[in-house]
Amino acid sequence: MISQTPSFGDLTFHVQTFGCQMNKHDSERVVGMLENLGARDVGTIEEADIVVFMTCCVREAADIRLIGQVNTMKNVKLRPNSPLSKRIIAVGGCIGQRDGEKLFDELPHLSVVFGTNNLASLPGLISDVLDGCGHRAETIDESKLFPSDLPSTREHSWAAWLPITIGCNNFCTYCIVPYVRGREKSRTLEEIVAEAQRYVDAGVKEITLIGQNVNSYGRDLYGEPRFAEVLKAVDATGIERLRFATSHPKDLTDEVIGMFGSLRSLMPALHLPAQSGSNAILEAMHRNYTVERYHELIDKLRDACPGIALSTDIIVGFPGETEADFEDTYRLVDEVGYSQVFTFIYSKREGTPAASMPDDTPREVIQERFDRLVDLVQQRAYLANQAELGATIPVLVEGASKRDAALLTGKSPKNQTVHAPLPEAVSLSDIVGTIAPVKIDEARTWYLKGHFV
Ligand code: 5AD
Ligand code: SF4
Repeated sequence: MISQTPSFGDLTFHVQTFGCQMNKHDSERVVGMLENLGARDVGTIEEADIVVFMTCCVREAADIRLIGQVNTMKNVKLRPNSPLSKRIIAVGGCIGQRDGEKLFDELPHLSVVFGTNNLASLPGLISDVLDGCGHRAETIDESKLFPSDLPSTREHSWAAWLPITIGCNNFCTYCIVPYVRGREKSRTLEEIVAEAQRYVDAGVKEITLIGQNVNSYGRDLYGEPRFAEVLKAVDATGIERLRFATSHPKDLTDEVIGMFGSLRSLMPALHLPAQSGSNAILEAMHRNYTVERYHELIDKLRDACPGIALSTDIIVGFPGETEADFEDTYRLVDEVGYSQVFTFIYSKREGTPAASMPDDTPREVIQERFDRLVDLVQQRAYLANQAELGATIPVLVEGASKRDAALLTGKSPKNQTVHAPLPEAVSLSDIVGTIAPVKIDEARTWYLKGHFV
């Protein structure tokens, strides 16, 4: 009997994403490529012939979760009419790049491993497996292609992530990213503007420029950072809402700060990772700024754009962190009054400089500091949202709320989550993807609630 190799047109797939916006964007490319080949995107692992995990290795918890997920998949049966005899499981993203072939030893039922620079190779690797070659891995160090040159299926039709740089040159001592994403590379201004214009022409309302450190955009191409120019050029395409992430405080220029409150489309919200409020720890982290300099930036941002919503990342329990260091961090968070703080317990990553620093703070002490900080963060987030009571805010409507189908959910200019009931005589499909005013009646720690006016 001759058995025929199934083609992509016969297959279903599912992509599960962990980690940062860059990974989410890469996943949109994976979906786009597989759909272009005729495969069908399904919502669950059970229904999928091909499952792709886009992984993150910034903290150890992500590694453990991936291994667990891939292992439990051994027991998930293929859908009844699948043309395959065995599901194809692919691991991409940062863990794929870091571990390469080694992953096959740990997870023998994996079929494909691909790195952060190998998105474009994924269909070929899957084809090889369909053709009967047991398993395939590809992890190269550099890619000639920017992921944006690949087809993409965006999660929302009205919002787009637009990568302007990939990789990172900063080598913060705790961070694995420069090792798995490579050195910083910028796209040309022309390419960025052309892509932004295509989005605007297609009806996209919000563009988020992404990169590990967008503020240093252009240093590799033009010998100097030209991020301010990117902001102006993308604003000129006529986009309604413009955001960017992530900013490194050491490279945030006065010119960029001045654009908050003055550049038409730039939303009044900035994520500015501080990581710590102790100068000794900032130095050990190799962050290249002091807490005084960080405060100066915050003051300038608030002068330029009163009411700007600030968010940050904080690591608790970096090697050698003393109670006094932690109190400095606590004070910084208290003084700045962030709308949102992403708090992380330090996670040792092999191969980074911090992994070999003496680290003897007991786990319980770190956990207690972490809990104390989270309490403060919640109080401040609650207060920031309370200030919006009674205000009418333009909300970009994303769809029905996950918890309550009768409620719509969307984002304010300050990136707050806003819920409001679907107005009578308006259909869901008419309002999703539009910007509509909501009067705020209720303010909780993590969301605002109101009604469309
Ligand atoms: N341990 C804990 N948090 C980390 N981050 C990066 N590396 C580590 C690590 N080893 C955090 C930083 C960064 C965010 C994306 O993840 O706060 O800004
Ligand atoms: Fe990691 Fe630092 Fe680069 Fe951010 S700037 S990706 S924390 S090395």
